[in-house]
Amino acid sequence: NQYQEALRPQFHFSPKRGWTNDPNGMVYFNGEYHLFFQHNPYGRNWGNMTWGHAVSKDLIHWTELDDALHPDQGGPVFSGGAVVDKENTSGLGENGKPAMVLFHTGARGWGQYMSWSTDGRSFHNYGKAVVPRINKDNRDPKVIWHAPTRKWIMVLWVERGNNEQHSMQFLTSPDLKNWTPASITYGGTGNDRYLFECPEFYELPVQGLNGVKKWVLTGANTQYAIGSFDGIRFTEEERKLQNQYGRDFYAPQTFSDEPTGRRIEMGWWRTNTAKDHMPFNQSMSLPLEHKLVKTPGGIRLTRMPVKEVDQLRARVYNPGNKIIRESSANPLKDIRIELAEIRMELMPGNAREIRLDVRGVPVIYDVARQQLVVDGVTAPVPLQNGKLSLLVYADRTGLEIFASKGLVFMPININIDRNNQSLSLSVKGGQVQVPELKVYELKSIWE
Ligand code: FRU
Repeated sequence: NQYQEALRPQFHFSPKRGWTNDPNGMVYFNGEYHLFFQHNPYGRNWGNMTWGHAVSKDLIHWTELDDALHPDQGGPVFSGGAVVDKENTSGLGENGKPAMVLFHTGARGWGQYMSWSTDGRSFHNYGKAVVPRINKDNRDPKVIWHAPTRKWIMVLWVERGNNEQHSMQFLTSPDLKNWTPASITYGGTGNDRYLFECPEFYELPVQGLNGVKKWVLTGANTQYAIGSFDGIRFTEEERKLQNQYGRDFYAPQTFSDEPTGRRIEMGWWRTNTAKDHMPFNQSMSLPLEHKLVKTPGGIRLTRMPVKEVDQLRARVYNPGNKIIRESSANPLKDIRIELAEIRMELMPGNAREIRLDVRGVPVIYDVARQQLVVDGVTAPVPLQNGKLSLLVYADRTGLEIFASKGLVFMPININIDRNNQSLSLSVKGGQVQVPELKVYELKSIWE
């Protein structure tokens, strides 16, 4: 087992060796989820960009394979997406077997390149750029099939100039090889990173609104727009929404061709792992399911861990407290745990503060401000019907926190003291009702 190092995430994907940043080419093909990733096979820092490759049957247990795409005449292999060409529009399929088709940016001339595989193991390079440089840096092609117009759509980030608006360019293609510019959606300018690099674009039904579907467009920092799309142009109805409050979640992508129709995301979860002789650096987030929900403020995106994560539960603690007061003993005092999932629903009533200590990392809810504060990061978490719902995962390299059933996501990278295996829950001010409090000890995915 090569995944025993002290700072090795135990239920998040990381490469055996070398650096990773963005997830790439996420696609379900021939019974496997494929996760490609920006990989430096030769070092712990960014460089020599190559597409690493891992596969999983359940989104949880990953097997790292040989690197799939290597730097070539197009230069370093930057980020991009993948699709399954089920109808063989490209002609790249073989003997009735469809091809998985991968798109990446060749960082020498900023062209968009194509590769394919019919077995998910060996990869062929199409050779020439399918989209030439448009302006300055063009990168991170994300390709999807648009059924109503029977066309492929590529969303490409196109840098225009230092002080011009960031832009996402939409292109269309009948065959994945020939691309025609269709429209442009503009984001922020300069340091305003709205719609800056790594586009993701998909349609989802809105929960509880029969038959209503909306399109979501995001850039690398996860600020997103909700709108409609006619196959040519994306029309923003709400823009620059944000419900991800970590400082360390970046460039997420979602799986193409997911067999159950779910929209499942993984992002680059930055970690503090370039130390203590670790042979690798950086990791991916948990796989997260996206949903669109109706809220009083409008339609919003939620993310929650996929249900497959539940298979990691090894043991449950059920403290069963119904009320916690300032004078209460710590209801979690008997627990000793390393890898943890903590689920709670709390009704703060007139209490001032609720404090959950996760192995030495305080997760604090300020009731008056309706804010969650963790390691210097603050997220607004309005109570829903007087209730706070929190889901916290603790791995060796930090916490992933979900509040209000996924309306708020707070990934926090912090190397947790291996020797601190205790949890505590306390309140200040009044008394807090606890409709739910459960702690699960989790297994490593590398066992
Ligand atoms: C985002 C990014 C992408 C680029 C890749 C290079 O983190 O800058 O825009 O393709 O990383 O590694």
